Amino acid sequence: MTAFQPRVFSGVQPTGNLHLGNYLGAVSRWVPLQNQMPAIFCVVDSHAITAGFPDPSELTNATREVTAAYMAAGIDPKKSIIFNQSQVREHMELAWIFNCVARMGWLNRMTQFKEKAGKNKENASVGLFAYPNLMAADILAYRATHVPVGDDQKQHLELTRDIAAKFNNDFGARIKELGIGVPNPTPSPELPEELYFPLTEPMIAGPATRIMSLRDGTKKMSKSDPSDLSRINLKDDADAIAKKIKKAKTDPDALPSETDGLEGRPEADNLVGIFAALNGMSKDDVLKEYGGQQFSAFKPALSDLAVAKLAPMTDEMRRLTGDPAQIDAILKEGAENASAIAEPVLKDVRKIIGFLDVR
Ligand code: TRP
Repeated sequence: MTAFQPRVFSGVQPTGNLHLGNYLGAVSRWVPLQNQMPAIFCVVDSHAITAGFPDPSELTNATREVTAAYMAAGIDPKKSIIFNQSQVREHMELAWIFNCVARMGWLNRMTQFKEKAGKNKENASVGLFAYPNLMAADILAYRATHVPVGDDQKQHLELTRDIAAKFNNDFGARIKELGIGVPNPTPSPELPEELYFPLTEPMIAGPATRIMSLRDGTKKMSKSDPSDLSRINLKDDADAIAKKIKKAKTDPDALPSETDGLEGRPEADNLVGIFAALNGMSKDDVLKEYGGQQFSAFKPALSDLAVAKLAPMTDEMRRLTGDPAQIDAILKEGAENASAIAEPVLKDVRKIIGFLDVR
């Protein structure tokens, strides 16, 4: 190979309901990418057991639901590979190898682990700690070059690059000798001339696509928030969406006419951001239209827009989840196509490492 094949990889965990934050911050942004380069979208079920095993039937359902959400949002299984992680064993195999590449010190710095483990670090699963290595394996099993994620995943992508760099370095001579390296597209003194793994390009959603809780503009919209009013679930019907927007926390002032005026007003900023993202426009454009207006006028407009944009998707999700056999068939084909890419990569990796191949 003379260059890395451009390839997109991303994933969402099948835990609980998908909400507006997952949609605007992740899945909706993937849709145009599938027309630009080969793309793989994974339902990362093996990540979903790191914080405790969910109820088995809920995990199964959530896996189908996330698949349905991908498709309802516009990911086309004819263009992109859609599959669930646990079906492609190469992820697990490469993750083990990366457990031996990544350093304890690197993982000790991961803020998501610190947040999720909280005070009870001793009782967190080893899987939760090693989770970023599995994420690196997800990406690098396909030698993916582009990974669109929310800004909360930035540190994990940096780790993925560190793992790729260390592997490329540690095995540089061997990779060259086997003749399976790719010229480093951005030569640097820190890396050999030929690489096996690309240094993946993060495509980070800016803070503009960070959707916050409807009850507290300083907290991320989250499926684990005890208040269902804090989020818009992709499965919410029109009435539920309207009710949640109506009850969304605001402040007493009118909307400003420029984005500067949103500073220090997290709830106003969030609602304007949601409007902008749903309508594919900038916050400035929203404020040009609604600046000076009260929330009593803006909220109904936002609610109409959200219903108009989300209802067709919700309907499609419902239709798709009504036919689990069809979803499973798509995941099966996706897993086969994904394996066809990952298997030769792992074959190379085993060879690079020196695992004796007797089969
Ligand atoms: N860790 C990601 C999240 O929680 C999900 C994920 C797992 C992922 N593997 C990935 C995202 C690989 C991008 C690429 O959001």
